[in-house]
Amino acid sequence: MLESIGPEMRQYFVANNREELPFNRIERGWVYASSKNENNYEGFGTDRDIYQHQHIFIKNCMIPFKMDAAHPNNKDKTFLPCAKVMGLYNERRKPYRPASAINVSAMSFGSLSARAIESLNIGVKQANAYHNTGEGGLSPYHSHGGDVVFHFGTGYFGVRTKDGNFSMSKLKTLIEENPFIRAIEIKLSQGAKPGKGGVLPGAKITPQIAKIRGVEVGKDVLSPSSHTAFSDVPELLKFIEDIANETGLPVGIKAAIGKIEQWELLAQLMVETNRGPDFITIDGGEGGTGAAPPSFADHVSLPWIYGFSTIYKIFQKHNLTQRVVFIGSGKLGFPAKGAMAFAMGADCINVAREAMLSIGCIQAQVCHTNKCPSGIATQNNWLQKGINVPLKSDRLAQYFKTFRKELTEITHAAGYEHPCQFTMKDVNVNVDDVDLTRTLEDSYKYSKTPVDFTSIQHLKDCTYLGGHYHKNETH
Ligand SMILES: Cc1cc2nc3c(=O)[nH]c(=O)nc-3n(C[C@H](O)[C@H](O)[C@H](O)COP(=O)(O)O)c2cc1C
Repeated sequence: MLESIGPEMRQYFVANNREELPFNRIERGWVYASSKNENNYEGFGTDRDIYQHQHIFIKNCMIPFKMDAAHPNNKDKTFLPCAKVMGLYNERRKPYRPASAINVSAMSFGSLSARAIESLNIGVKQANAYHNTGEGGLSPYHSHGGDVVFHFGTGYFGVRTKDGNFSMSKLKTLIEENPFIRAIEIKLSQGAKPGKGGVLPGAKITPQIAKIRGVEVGKDVLSPSSHTAFSDVPELLKFIEDIANETGLPVGIKAAIGKIEQWELLAQLMVETNRGPDFITIDGGEGGTGAAPPSFADHVSLPWIYGFSTIYKIFQKHNLTQRVVFIGSGKLGFPAKGAMAFAMGADCINVAREAMLSIGCIQAQVCHTNKCPSGIATQNNWLQKGINVPLKSDRLAQYFKTFRKELTEITHAAGYEHPCQFTMKDVNVNVDDVDLTRTLEDSYKYSKTPVDFTSIQHLKDCTYLGGHYHKNETH
C-alpha cells in the first residue's frame, strides 16, 4: 500500500522544488501560473545553484534592444513567428511560415483523450501556433481551425492500406479535404524510444480510434520498428519528394539522434540532388512518450543538446542550414531553454509534456495505463469528463503567449529583435571543473550560421504566415 502511494507522498510532501524529474515543481509551477495568466514571478532571487554543471546563462547587453513606437511587439508582446519559411527553398506549392516560435509536438488521439486534443487544437488556434497530430491520424478533434502538421510513423495510421502499408491516395485525399493541414512530418524516431515501434494498449482502442487509425477495436496496436515505404536514405529522399509533389505541402522528418553516418549521407544527397526535407525535428533522449520501455527511454539516443549540435554541424558543413527549418523538442518549453535552442540553430520549438501541463497534467506518469487522473492521457470517458475544453484551450494559448513574451524579453535583454539572432557566443554553460564556464561555441565546437532576418515587421507581412494573423488583424 505504501509503495503504491509513495510517488504521491514524495511529490506532495517530500521532494524539494528542484528535485523531481522530468519536470520539477518550479518548472511545473511556472507552466501552471503562465497558463492561468497568474503571477509567475519568483521572489527573493533564484533558488537554483547557478554554479551547477550544465547550468546555462544568457548574456545580456549593457543597453538592451529598443523597440520604436511602430514595432509590432509594442502592439502585441506575444507576436513571435518563425524566422524561416518551410518549403520555400524547395519551391513547394504551399510554403508555410509557422506563426509561433512554440508549437504543440506530436501526441496522438489515442494516446491523448478527445477532450485533450480538442483543448490543444482550439488553444493553438487562439495562439496562432500549430498542432502536430502525432502518429494516430487526423481526428475530428484536430479540426477546430488551428494549423495542423500531419504526422505519421511506421504504422501509417489514417493513411494506410488494409495490410498496413502507406497509401499515397489516402494521404492526398486527407490533405485535399483538410486545408488546415500546413505541413507533413514523417517520424523516423522519437527520443523516448528510437528504433522501437509504438504500442497503443487494446484498452485505449475505442471504435472511433479504430476507425480513424484503420485498425481493430480492443486489440493492442503495435507499430513496427521500421518503415515499409522506404529502406535507405535515397529511398527516404524520394519518398519525401513524392509526398511533396502529390500534396504541395512542405515535408519534414522527425528523429532522435544516435549514429551520424546516415545523416552525413542525407546531407550529401541533399547537396547532390538539390532536394530534401523542408524541416527537421530533432527530439532529445529526454523526450516524453505515451508508453516506452525504460531501457529505451533512459539509455537509447542522445540528449537534445548533444543530438542537435551533432546534426546541425553536419548540415552546416554542407552549407544546408538555410534550406532547412530546424525544430527542437525535449524539455525546451521554458523561455531560457528556448533562447539556448535558438542560439544553437533551432528555428522553432515543439512542446509535448509542457503543453499537457498547461491543460492540467499533474505529472502522474501513468500515460501507459489508461488511468490518467487528469483525463488527458486516457480514453476513459469518466476521467476525461473533468476536462473543461474552453478553459483548457485558453490555458494552452496563454502558456504559449507567455512563453513568446518572455522569450522576446530575454531576446531584447541580449540586444536582439528576434531570437534567431542569438549566437553560440551569447549563451554560456557550466562545464564542471575544466574551464568552469564556456560559451556554447567553445563547448559544442561550432558557431551558428546567421539566419536571414530583416525585421519582425517583415515576418508579419509575409504571405506564408500561418495562424490567423492575416485573417484577424486584431490579434
Ligand atoms: C503522451 C505522449 C505521446 C506522444 N506521442 C508521440 C507520437 O505519436 N509521435 C512522436 O513522434 N512523438 C510523440 N511523443 C513525443 C513528443 O512529441 C516530444 O517529441 C517529446 O515528448 C519531447 O517533448 P517534451 O519534452 O516537450 O515533452 C509523445 C509524447 C507524449 C508525452
